Amino acid sequence: MLTVKEAIEKRRSIRKFKPVPVPDELLMQVLEAARLAPSGTNRQPWRFQVIKDGPLKKKLIEEATFGSEALNSAPVIIVCGAEMLTFVKGHQLAPPGSQYYGAENEDPEELKKFAPDANMYTAIAITHMTLIATALGLGTCWVQRIKFGQMARLLGWPRHMTVLTTLALGYPDEDPPPRPRVPLDTILIKEG
Ligand SMILES: Cc1cc2nc3c(=O)[nH]c(=O)nc-3n(C[C@H](O)[C@H](O)[C@H](O)COP(=O)(O)O)c2cc1C
Repeated sequence: MLTVKEAIEKRRSIRKFKPVPVPDELLMQVLEAARLAPSGTNRQPWRFQVIKDGPLKKKLIEEATFGSEALNSAPVIIVCGAEMLTFVKGHQLAPPGSQYYGAENEDPEELKKFAPDANMYTAIAITHMTLIATALGLGTCWVQRIKFGQMARLLGWPRHMTVLTTLALGYPDEDPPPRPRVPLDTILIKEG
């Protein structure tokens, strides 16, 4: 198993996968890493639907994406989204103490105010998945260029659950070099 540092350095977006299924035991480790992610007020809004090779996967790619090499070749797609009811004050899906902070009601316009939080928290959980997948010898690729509403409709998600991205998962069939990153100097804001 790689160290966290090694996994961070080794991770790449993988767009070509071997036509080999991902063992359920590894898939569960990937999902467990998402479950353990931190979130503001421990909201845990993330939700995941695992789609394996088959007719549903084909339909989703055809009708709810703009085409993606990564999704096509991946044996597993994890549809990642958020349960927005976790943001409603005092809701049974919201964390204890949530009566003090959150949406006033379940109105879609009210829930929308919490979309940035839902995005941020879910992105942390997805990052956990990408890193543990790397450590387990698997590859991932975020594919966010999808038709969100269409994906939710095809999967039968209710209105209060939003699709945020998909994650392709499988055994890498390519070993791409690191993609460029801007230097630390550029991203560090200095005093004065
Ligand atoms: C939020 C997010 C959305 C992305 N969406 C796509 C996508 O729709 N299609 C794709 O091929 N790659 C997508 N990527 C992968 C990026 O292109 C990739 O992370 C970036 O080029 C850096 O390469 P690396 O991941 O190999 O370091 C996405 C990555 C992130 C984090």
